[in-house]
Amino acid sequence: LADESVGMEALLESPMERCASEDGKPAFALPARLYGAQRPNSEGLDPAVAEHRERLFAAWRQVAVPRVPEASAGEASAAARRAAEAFDAWNHRPVAERAAVLRRAADAMQAQLPPLCALLVAEARKTWPDAIAEVREAIDFLRYYATEAERLLAPVELPGPTGERNTLRLHGRGAWVCISPWNFPLAIFTGQVAAALVTGNTVLAKPAEQTPAIAREAVRLLHAAGVPAEVLQLLHGPGETVGAALVAEPAVAGVVFTGSTPVAKAIQRALAAKDGPIVPLIAETGGVNAMLVDSSALPEQVADAVVQSAFRSAGQRCSALRLLCVHESIADGVIEMVRGAAQALVVGDPTDLATDVGPLIDAEAFDGVARHLARLRTTARALLPEGEDATTHTVAPQLFEIRHVAEASQEIFGPVLQVLRWRGDPKDVIAQVNALGYGLTLGLQTRIDSRALALAAQARAGNVYVNRNTIGAVVGVQPFGGEGLSGTGPKAGGPHYLPRFCAEQTLTINT
Ligand code: SER
Repeated sequence: LADESVGMEALLESPMERCASEDGKPAFALPARLYGAQRPNSEGLDPAVAEHRERLFAAWRQVAVPRVPEASAGEASAAARRAAEAFDAWNHRPVAERAAVLRRAADAMQAQLPPLCALLVAEARKTWPDAIAEVREAIDFLRYYATEAERLLAPVELPGPTGERNTLRLHGRGAWVCISPWNFPLAIFTGQVAAALVTGNTVLAKPAEQTPAIAREAVRLLHAAGVPAEVLQLLHGPGETVGAALVAEPAVAGVVFTGSTPVAKAIQRALAAKDGPIVPLIAETGGVNAMLVDSSALPEQVADAVVQSAFRSAGQRCSALRLLCVHESIADGVIEMVRGAAQALVVGDPTDLATDVGPLIDAEAFDGVARHLARLRTTARALLPEGEDATTHTVAPQLFEIRHVAEASQEIFGPVLQVLRWRGDPKDVIAQVNALGYGLTLGLQTRIDSRALALAAQARAGNVYVNRNTIGAVVGVQPFGGEGLSGTGPKAGGPHYLPRFCAEQTLTINT
């Protein structure tokens, strides 16, 4: 690993992007070839660079995931008390100081990009392109919230009668519990923690039990950047024990949670049952995300968007596409293209550069998806061959034709897509999707602008994407979060997120 710069360059250049532009044609024109014949490997690179790149990846494939001890109930209580005691001092630091800490952590993360990627691949079983995108997203959260906090926490002078001065100021609320998921164990973890810290709160961070090591690295970088140990404390362990113990602590002033809808509701109930102040919950949960395709859509573009949205990250994104609703007039062609492109995807070992669809996170996740597949194979028409491997926990992309939107009422957290043909009024399809109760992402594929705008306005979905895929929201560009069963609404990476972590004070002075 002597000369890391060559490896860094190779890593920083997303294999997916390289592949798409290699023959100078847009990606959507050649979905099957994009994912099939042209592998994102070292072919075509200068031989010395290629050899170096292969050596680096070979080394990074060996990264060992460290073991992390679980917190006890007593440790959770002690941590909550420390966090509450540390609040005043941290909250009274100038916001510029807290923002500077976040920026230093972002720089450190940038410098550590390759080893962080390697750990994401090893621990969270991410593919390399997904790992690179995730580290970049974590860095974006740090820099974006630093800038947003400086804007938001500046006092605002308000009008008043002569002889009176009115000022509005925002500040932290106290100790926050941040509970984050395994599917974005660095980006969502960092986003939650950075938002709470920069607004003046102290943090008790409880990462998913499947991915503690990458969280530990993020905390190490934040501490080194200047967050005091008592201001950011990390507690490992299952949600049922450590997460629940933290939520129940009397000193907790807020909870931010990303995970399943039932767990979000359980947290809400636990908070409501506590004595003392009313404690806010920010929850971002799942989705049964649909894409509506009308007869004016471009089939090649649809196929590419569908394959990315449904199968990238092995479908383990809350934003992933679960239900494709395609107009009957172009359904045969679109389905055929999606089938072809899906079958060209390489399924397997995430440490292999060529892999498009890595494994599911663990046996429990695999068993859950397998149960849904068994059900769908009796109730729907399977359009792709079976491809589950209980040893590696991989699932080859699966496509099922169903007849009614309501049949897709459950979120299946894997590379499983349901498709249905529609005719008539697209507003009826959107109404049925709304009725599922989730409200996270929605894709619209149409060349009729007025229709796209009307359907977006009708949709109860937090993120609507027109004529593109429905994943990979960019911090500060596509604020991300849903409504209904998909969450309490605040959108991560958007201008209205940080205020949810704040209390406000209006100061009126009679001069
Ligand atoms: N923010 C991610 C995306 O947009 C999902 O959590 O895909």
